[in-house]
Amino acid sequence: MVSSSVKFLLNDKTQEIKNPDPNQTILNYIRTELKKTGTKEGCSEGGCGACTIVLGELVGDEIKYSSINSCISFVPSLNGKQLLIVEDLVSKDGTLHPVQDAMVKFHGSQCGFCTPGFVMSLFSMFKNNKSYNSELITDSISGNLCRCTGYRPIIDAAKSLNKTNKKDEFSKNKSKVIKLLKKIRPKNIYIKKDDKVYFSPKNIKELKNIIKKYSNFNFLAGGTDLSLAVTKERKEIPFIIDIKEIKELNFIKVNKNYLEIGATTPLIKFENEIKKYYPDFYSVLKRYGSVQIRNVGTIGGNIATASPIGDTLPILLSLNAEILIESINEKKVLPINSFFIDYRKTKLKKNEFIRSIKIPLFKKNIFKAFKISKRFDDDISSVCGSFNFEINKNKIKEVFIAYGGMAAVPKRAKACEEILKNKPLTINTFNQAKNYLEKDLSPIGDMRASKEYRLEIAKNLLMKCFVEINSNKLTRVN
Ligand SMILES: Cc1cc2nc3c(=O)[nH]c(=O)nc-3n(C[C@H](O)[C@H](O)[C@H](O)COP(=O)(O)OP(=O)(O)OC[C@H]3O[C@@H](n4cnc5c(N)ncnc54)[C@H](O)[C@@H]3O)c2cc1C
Ligand code: FES
Ligand code: FES
Repeated sequence: MVSSSVKFLLNDKTQEIKNPDPNQTILNYIRTELKKTGTKEGCSEGGCGACTIVLGELVGDEIKYSSINSCISFVPSLNGKQLLIVEDLVSKDGTLHPVQDAMVKFHGSQCGFCTPGFVMSLFSMFKNNKSYNSELITDSISGNLCRCTGYRPIIDAAKSLNKTNKKDEFSKNKSKVIKLLKKIRPKNIYIKKDDKVYFSPKNIKELKNIIKKYSNFNFLAGGTDLSLAVTKERKEIPFIIDIKEIKELNFIKVNKNYLEIGATTPLIKFENEIKKYYPDFYSVLKRYGSVQIRNVGTIGGNIATASPIGDTLPILLSLNAEILIESINEKKVLPINSFFIDYRKTKLKKNEFIRSIKIPLFKKNIFKAFKISKRFDDDISSVCGSFNFEINKNKIKEVFIAYGGMAAVPKRAKACEEILKNKPLTINTFNQAKNYLEKDLSPIGDMRASKEYRLEIAKNLLMKCFVEINSNKLTRVN
């Protein structure tokens, strides 16, 4: 069954939008059509959190809540979900939600522009967890900027939620909402509005049928890169194939030798799995954008975007990951090490899509990755370095090193690797090898960092690896 309508729940009421503009953002819809102005617009690029809303989704027989940036999500992505906005949090009798109440009691709001966004991020945290420690709280609000409060009162408000009754109006209404969500289970969508087309197939077979018929489309996954063409560049995206609802692309499989991740698996789901195998991969992901970005952003999207500062890319290069690519009748596997051709250019052809990514599990190796950015949270890397060492009897047997932010593409440091290979694990070896990074890498200077700073950092990260491996200790400042 194909529908041209987007059906969703606005809190607990079924809502249908017939043939919407596929480029309309949810924020625009909330403010201009629902006429609810609690949700604010700050940056229009997913960076400030003022527009944060929460989507409820059926996972088995439970509702999973995700905070997202409504400014960079398009209306059709509401299909089959529950939309919760800040106005929905107050009970019918006017009682504030525990999160709102805590923000008032702890003076978590001053000018108030950021406040609805903070409230929605904390609401999502409140609903998805039973207790709230500092790490969870700071992570949950990492995508919300406030220029007045200095964050301490907001964090205090969040901590106080540990002592409140977890049963809110949404818990009481849960079985009704679950029933309604089951009733509006998402269908395939085909929208044609003016000169814009939007497809949302539910499986790969349907996806291939669309690819067979059409050309000049854009795949849409999390939209954290693509949507900015609309919100920042004021362009239109005339033909979208939304691949986010295809279940076959959203999975994580683990076997003895590797981990395979479906291309549209949200980064937030992936980070919890990768933590078991490569804790530093997890640490970098924790600083990737924000919870709102990682709730929708995908690993396939990060690879296809091919930004030189894409955070997963140097890591995947140093782990020798493979990309499984598919088109109408063909399947192929490409090593990520030969995938990036030039600035934001890859070997992916127009009708090909990434199906999954295979990450080898180097069980005996020492793996380290570091992200350097101006701000700890919610910031793009100036430099990202990733290091995969096989060391035997104090000798470097094999090594894979890759950097982001150091060239037009994320890049392996092969000259440096050659110098390190088969050498003893000593400071002299590393001092010698670090100079070869100048051969491998050619950074530019921009607003994030100068060329000289980037090179110095790249060398220092290599030396940091030596210090950590040699002392068997982590030298991290958090
Ligand atoms: C506020 C903010 C903060 C950010 N912070 C970071 C950060 O810290 N680190 C970082 O690396 N990036 C960051 N980004 C960039 C962005 O998150 C990434 O580029 C993201 O991974 C893109 O994934 P997506 O699923 O959202 O892709 P989309 O925006 O949906 O798509 C991006 C591109 O990939 C293509 N594509 C997507 N999936 C596939 C597929 N399966 N097969 C073929 N093509 C595909 C699309 O057609 C499009 O061209 C940030 C972005 C924002 C807005
Ligand atoms: S308006 Fe800033 S994140 Fe959406
Ligand atoms: S209260 Fe003013 S920006 Fe947060």
